[in-house]
Amino acid sequence: MCGIVGYIGPQNATPVILNGLKRLEYRGYDSAGLAVIQNSHIEIRRDVGKLTKLAELVSEIPVSGHVGIGHTRWATHGEPSARNAHPHIGMTGNVVVVHNGIVENYRELHDDLAAEGVVFSSDTDTEVIVQLVERFQSTGLGLVEAAEKSMQQLKGAHGIVLMSSLEPDKIVAARIGNAGGVVIGIGDHEMFIASDLPAILEHTRRVVFLESCQVAIVTRDGLTVQTLDGKPVRYKEQIVSWDPISAEKGEYRHFMLKEINEQVRSLTDTIAGRVDVDCGKVRLPELNLTPEFAKAISKVYITACGTAAHAGMIGKILLERITRIPTELQIASEFRYGDPIVGDNTLLLAISQSGETADTLAAMEEGRKKGARLWSIVNAIGTQAMRIADGYISMQAGPEIGVASTKAFTAPIVDLYMLAVLLADMRGTLGEKERRSLVSGLCMIPDLVGKCLDRHLEVEAVAETLKETRSCLYLGRGINMPIAYEGALKLKEISYIHAEGYPAGEMKHGPIALIDREMPVVVLAPHDPWYEKMISQIEQAKARGGTVIAVATDGDQCIPSLVDHVLWVPDTPWLLSPVVTVIPLQLLAYYIAAKRGLDVDQPRNLAKSVTVE
Ligand code: F6R
Repeated sequence: MCGIVGYIGPQNATPVILNGLKRLEYRGYDSAGLAVIQNSHIEIRRDVGKLTKLAELVSEIPVSGHVGIGHTRWATHGEPSARNAHPHIGMTGNVVVVHNGIVENYRELHDDLAAEGVVFSSDTDTEVIVQLVERFQSTGLGLVEAAEKSMQQLKGAHGIVLMSSLEPDKIVAARIGNAGGVVIGIGDHEMFIASDLPAILEHTRRVVFLESCQVAIVTRDGLTVQTLDGKPVRYKEQIVSWDPISAEKGEYRHFMLKEINEQVRSLTDTIAGRVDVDCGKVRLPELNLTPEFAKAISKVYITACGTAAHAGMIGKILLERITRIPTELQIASEFRYGDPIVGDNTLLLAISQSGETADTLAAMEEGRKKGARLWSIVNAIGTQAMRIADGYISMQAGPEIGVASTKAFTAPIVDLYMLAVLLADMRGTLGEKERRSLVSGLCMIPDLVGKCLDRHLEVEAVAETLKETRSCLYLGRGINMPIAYEGALKLKEISYIHAEGYPAGEMKHGPIALIDREMPVVVLAPHDPWYEKMISQIEQAKARGGTVIAVATDGDQCIPSLVDHVLWVPDTPWLLSPVVTVIPLQLLAYYIAAKRGLDVDQPRNLAKSVTVE
């Protein structure tokens, strides 16, 4: 959840860290801070609030040096305040730490240290780490050994970065458990450390991702990786192909709007190289899928959280319709405790934009324990959900910075569709004509999404009429039911308007009581197999005086006379229709929030990667 940046090299570390933090602010934004070793002394600047506050503080009281670490926080222990902002320094003032994760046994450690006379200066769990390291250092250990000994005592999952004024030639970084990714960027006589790639992409594409229980010792000219008990580890350097420019806002007012508009490109990239239109075939080589396993799969569990779970709901319908393999969607936070029935040929497919969502990783671990084959669909390259899987599909959506997920919603739907076609083909259950038709439908998608985006002014006009609403109902059925959930989620998370997504057929069993003139109802009624049913749903809502906004297919003659506003989408093969019907709902949520003057990219209480359970 929190963002971490570190730098060691010839440049002044302060602007490098501030820049890196800016690119990670989506991970947490209740407070921020940095520490730099200046004249052999650790200088800290930190404050509550957004990064701009920290930048102001640094310009008022400048600090410079060639080694430094920084942090942007999403509070777990201790309220957002300057004293709880990272970095945290130990009592002797020799060691400083930034941390992402939760020290689950911090009370115990805190009480032991306090009993030994350590005086704490924050309410955070993080501070025990630095106090522990200083305690080991005081017994004569060097920073690395002291850090390793301390980390062996921590319970929970963490990304940790430390430096010491006693050894200013190095930064020590560690990853423990699933949460808290740590990536080291290798430059020319300089090194970068971050919790996530966007912080370092402008400096280097050469990166090393730390595995769980590994410690990196980073100096200007080198990197050593070892286990928590000091055994050397051979690491693999990777070259990242993400474009640093795509992590910039460019001409757009918000990242969210930019990312909504990027979907023509992200979907093109998702499909590119994976479908052969001439022979109507799909290729997904990173899945490591053998014909034997394709035939043997007897059950699929899809697991994910939030928006990714909504993509998974659509995936369930796609897999069952196209492959006839029984498929279940389980919210990741429920999967682990639901005692799922997993057999030898069960496949567990996790979907995650960040690749580091704690609940999703825990579900994967549970699946592994029970003997499932693990696959993942992941956007952030090299992350845990990608690495622990037996096979994966890389989303190709590019960096997603806006906290509300948009392009990382449509990409996995297309991935799941391709997966269904591939599996059905390998299992011999899909005729050639049907396969070709499914694949050719796929190739139209980027263009159809572009057509939805061209209509942004119409959506903005509807947003103007809804911006003061207090509550909103979204209804959908069949393959567009998850779009009702997703439309409602987008609205509530960025506009703070209460919104509920509902299976349309359930409306008469309760929610219909809510409908009156004050309650707008957004109805998904494209030309899909549930169209007729949705028309009667619209009539029921209108009969109760509701304002109805329908998402409908171009050329529909019936809907305009029934509803108050229409959000038009182009005619799309129905199995792929959610990819287009969601676009006006993403735009609607965006425009409503922007018109309410809210912080669209960093809505209150949220963070981009949820690395705590
Ligand atoms: C909503 C949103 C969240 C995420 C969820 C899972 O806009 O972004 O609901 O979808 O936290 O995150 P990932 O996909 O990173 O596992």
